[in-house]
Amino acid sequence: MAKRTQGKPLTVDQIRKMREEYLLPSTMTYYKKPVNIVRGEMQYVYDDRGRRYIDAFSAVVTISVGHCHPEVIERTVEQLKTLQHMTTLYFHPTIVRYAKKMAESARKANPNLKVSFFTNSGCEANELAALLAKNYTGTHEFIAVRHSFHGRTLMAMTLTGQSLWRHSLPYVFGVHHAPAGYTYRCPVGVSPRNLGKWAAEEVEKIIKYSTCGKLAAFIAEPIQGFGGVITPPPDYFPRIYDVVKKYGGVFISDEVQTGFGRTGDKFFGIEHWGVKPDIITMAKGIGNGVPLGGIITTREIAESMRGKVHFNTYGGNPVSMAQGEAVIDVIRKYRYDRNARIVGNHLIRGLRELQKRHAKVIGDVRGKGLMLGVEFVKDPRSKAPAPELVLSIMEHAKNAGVLLGKGGMAGNTIRVKPPLCVTKKDADEIVDVMDGAIKKARKELRL
Ligand SMILES: Cc1ncc(COP(=O)(O)O)c(C=O)c1O
Repeated sequence: MAKRTQGKPLTVDQIRKMREEYLLPSTMTYYKKPVNIVRGEMQYVYDDRGRRYIDAFSAVVTISVGHCHPEVIERTVEQLKTLQHMTTLYFHPTIVRYAKKMAESARKANPNLKVSFFTNSGCEANELAALLAKNYTGTHEFIAVRHSFHGRTLMAMTLTGQSLWRHSLPYVFGVHHAPAGYTYRCPVGVSPRNLGKWAAEEVEKIIKYSTCGKLAAFIAEPIQGFGGVITPPPDYFPRIYDVVKKYGGVFISDEVQTGFGRTGDKFFGIEHWGVKPDIITMAKGIGNGVPLGGIITTREIAESMRGKVHFNTYGGNPVSMAQGEAVIDVIRKYRYDRNARIVGNHLIRGLRELQKRHAKVIGDVRGKGLMLGVEFVKDPRSKAPAPELVLSIMEHAKNAGVLLGKGGMAGNTIRVKPPLCVTKKDADEIVDVMDGAIKKARKELRL
C-alpha cells in the first residue's frame, strides 16, 4: 500500500457531502452506492477497504497502459525532480523529443503528419484543429457527426452531436451534423450494407444545401465513444473522405479515445478505415493520467499558423512530455496494441456469447480491440433502449468487482474498455461478472 501523504482518509459519506457543498452540481457520479477509489495498479483499482476492482472502463478510456505503470511513473518522477515546468518560450528537450516520437507514431495513419502542438486536454486539441482548418481553408463551415462527443469548450460542444452534452447557448455558427455509421439503427430504407454510401450522399447534400459550398473540415471519432461505441462500416469514412476532399475540406480524426493502440494493432483508430487524416487530435490515453492533449498535422496545414501567435501555458510541459514519451515507449516495448487485438477478440467473443444467453435484452455487440460496447434493449424487435437495465447491471457489476462505463444517446450501451495490459483471464472475469449482473438486473426489472 502506498504511503499516505494526503491527511486522514475520507469516508464515502464525507466525500458525498463535500462534493455537494464544494463542487459544481453538474459533477456526475455513476453509482447509487459510490465507490471510493484510493489506489491503482495496472488494470486494477482498489477502494478504501482494500477491495480490488478490474477497471474495465480505464477511468473513462484514459488509462491506456495501466494505472501507475511502474516504468512510466519512474520516468515521470525523474522528470518531476529535474525540471517540472518550462514554457515553449524557452528551449527544452522533452517537447521536441516527444513531437518527433509522435510523428513516427502517426506515419502509418498518414506519412505527411509531422507537425504537433500540445495542449492539456482533448477539447483544447479540437479547438485548435478547428482553428487550423479555418486558417488553412479560409472558410468556417464544419461537418461533424450525430452521436459524436468532442469536449466541453464552446466549439467542441458545438461539434458534439448529442443534446445531452449541449447546453442552451449561442453555438458557434457554421457547424452541421451528418448521419453516424450506426449500423444497428439504420434509417428506414437504409441497410447496414449501403449505410456508408447513403451517409456520404447525405454529407454532400449538407454541403450543397446548408453551407456556402466550401468546407473547412469534417471531424469524426473513428469509433464514437460517448455515443455508445458506434463503429461505422468499412466504406463509411473512405466515401465521406472523397466528398470532403471534393469540397476542399480537411479531414480531422478525433482519436482522443481510439488512439494509441486501443482499437488493436493500429496506433490510430482511423487506420482501420484506410483514409489519411489531415489532422489528428488526441488526449486521454496518450497521457495515461497526466493532462496531455495535442494535434498532429501536415506541414502545409501547419504553415497557415505562421505569423500568428498561439500559446498554451502548460501545453508541452516537461512532465507531460516525459510521461507521454514513456507511454509510447511501453506501448512499443510490450506491444500493448497487439494485446488489445488479442484480448479484445477474446473479450468480444465472450460478449457475443452473453448476447446469445441474453438475446432478449442485448441488441448489439460491437467495437474493435479493447473499445467494445454492448447495447441493451427492452425487446430486440422494437429495439427500445433499456437505460435502467444498464444502470442496474453497472451497479451489480461494481458490487462484484468490475467497473464498467456507459454511453449512447439513451444511456443504454455498456462500454467495456479496460487498459491495454488486460489479460484473457481478466476478460473472462469481466464476462462472468457481467453475466451475473445481467441476470440480477433482468430479474429486478422483469425483462
Ligand atoms: C472523443 C473525445 N474527444 C474529445 C474529448 C474531450 O477531451 P477532454 O475531456 O480531455 O477535454 C473527449 C472526452 O471524453 C472524447 O471522448
